[in-house]
Amino acid sequence: MIDLHAHILPGLDDGATDWEVALAMCRLAVADGISTLVATPHYYPGTAPVEPEVIAEQVAELRGRCAQAGLDLELLGGAEVALDASLPALAKAARLPALGPGGRYFLLEMPPASPMRGLEEMVFQLQLSGLTPVFCHPERTWPAGSDWSWLQRLVETGCLVQVTAMSLTGDFGAQAQAACLRLLELGCCHLVASDAHSDQWRAPQLSGAWDYLERLMGADTARLMLAESPRRVLEGKEPEAPVLIRRKRRWFKRRD
Ligand SMILES: [Fe+2]
Repeated sequence: MIDLHAHILPGLDDGATDWEVALAMCRLAVADGISTLVATPHYYPGTAPVEPEVIAEQVAELRGRCAQAGLDLELLGGAEVALDASLPALAKAARLPALGPGGRYFLLEMPPASPMRGLEEMVFQLQLSGLTPVFCHPERTWPAGSDWSWLQRLVETGCLVQVTAMSLTGDFGAQAQAACLRLLELGCCHLVASDAHSDQWRAPQLSGAWDYLERLMGADTARLMLAESPRRVLEGKEPEAPVLIRRKRRWFKRRD
């Protein structure tokens, strides 16, 4: 499996607190069956964002520590970028950390009260610079019964959607899980990632989501969302979105 979203670099955000925790997270990832992990610290363009060079340096450091510990884990750099009016200019200046060597996709975090007006134009400008957003965990930002038409329109333009593994499995509550299922029904859910923050509760683990998806939609879909599509994203290739078809409940009249 490939994990495209993890706060594993120490000292850059609210994720791993030190190198020991970072290494413990790598151990958990490998034990869970994760072969590639993308380190994606929070990136706030408005307030002295972490420099892409610093992310690359820390990824190299963690790679060395994993090798020393005998851990077979491919580590790549990226970021979880917060929505900001400056994003098109940063993309033009090649200052937005993309996911993997493909350089085509980046994680975009939308604050709950963010204005949707102007978003399509911003995405268009970003795409002109060769960068397409992957919307991070919208199921945790908006309630289950939300109007997702804005997201559907952006998915039609090539944007991707990533939900969090713990949302899918219900660990973030019924609301977040229901929103995941709705996004899957709409064909607006391409990827599942851990969004890990530590080696404790929010750890880099995806096997629970794999099992859940396998039961819900079959092993092929689990493989698609947790291995094949993330690989395509890292290579800069467009993945497909599976569509959940829910059977209508059948009600039988009881015969007395
Ligand atoms: Fe995150």
